[in-house]
Amino acid sequence: MLIKPPADIRPSEITPESVYRSRRRFMRESGTLAAGAATLVGPSAAGLPAEWLAARKVKPGEPIGEQMTSESDATSYNNFYEFGTDKGDPAKYAHELTVDPWTVKVTGEVERPGDIGLEDMLSGIDLEERIYRLRCVEAWSMVIPWIGFPVKKLIDKFQPTSDARYVEFRTLHRPSEMRGQRSIFSNIDWPYVEGLRMDEANHPLAIFAVGMYGKLLPNQNGAPIRLVVPWKYGFKSIKSIVEIRLTRRQPKNTWNVLQPKEYGFYANVNPNVDHPRWSQASERRFPTTLFKPNRIATRMFNGYDEVASLYKGLDLTQFY
Ligand code: MTE
Repeated sequence: MLIKPPADIRPSEITPESVYRSRRRFMRESGTLAAGAATLVGPSAAGLPAEWLAARKVKPGEPIGEQMTSESDATSYNNFYEFGTDKGDPAKYAHELTVDPWTVKVTGEVERPGDIGLEDMLSGIDLEERIYRLRCVEAWSMVIPWIGFPVKKLIDKFQPTSDARYVEFRTLHRPSEMRGQRSIFSNIDWPYVEGLRMDEANHPLAIFAVGMYGKLLPNQNGAPIRLVVPWKYGFKSIKSIVEIRLTRRQPKNTWNVLQPKEYGFYANVNPNVDHPRWSQASERRFPTTLFKPNRIATRMFNGYDEVASLYKGLDLTQFY
């Protein structure tokens, strides 16, 4: 595969040498780097080896005064329909996905479209921990320490044109490794697609995550790179992204296409607008059991009031 990074980004210039060398050593030792593959694939198309994060400085997150969800709950109770519809399916089957090499294509309304490997994409970007509430539209919630960086930082590298009004994100489509995509019971038109308005994507709270709990993302949580938009229902936080497209028109998003009356494009957490089949006024906060559901009140924008100005004048009962 020919990988074409934006014209001004030369991997050899921007990957710190220590990281570059340690990753080559890792690849050689793990057998990823076959003799002839080096020139074809090169560092720009690779995923992130386990040691990569240890070589990076990560700014610690601000505690939010709420109990953090255990790592084992956050990595074993998941929604990732590409691996099945049961909450335990992603943890069971997501190891079947190969995340190295990994390339993200950035297209549409940008001055510098291109395909870029993860290390090149992340070079020069400061990683930070963000401890965020995650509120699923199904009325359960968690508090997760993500490791990532603002969406805006990546998008700006590709120079959006003045016509860019929305950002569309696509998950990998690889039925050979994603059993949910080859299931005859699936009614999803793969790949999973999500979208944000440009000003939402540019909001400092919207991040791309590459890690959680101090480690690289596990596959079931969307390795190697996913979106996290904490004031919206969890389905907006699309996993395992391979394509980012800047558009003039509002993108279609998977759940809205499937059930338009139940799931909107905006999907802002809103206790005042119920899902047609259940109330959104409260949520089960992990740790939760049948006998101790740990039910708490749901907050507008999931408690992130600083985004309210993005929706001034918008009727949130109509634009749910
Ligand atoms: N992304 C893809 N590609 N496929 C999915 O099925 N599920 C979404 C979102 N991102 C999903 C996805 C839903 S419904 C939720 S609640 C969150 O991922 C769950 O993220 P988590 O499993 O890391 O908690």
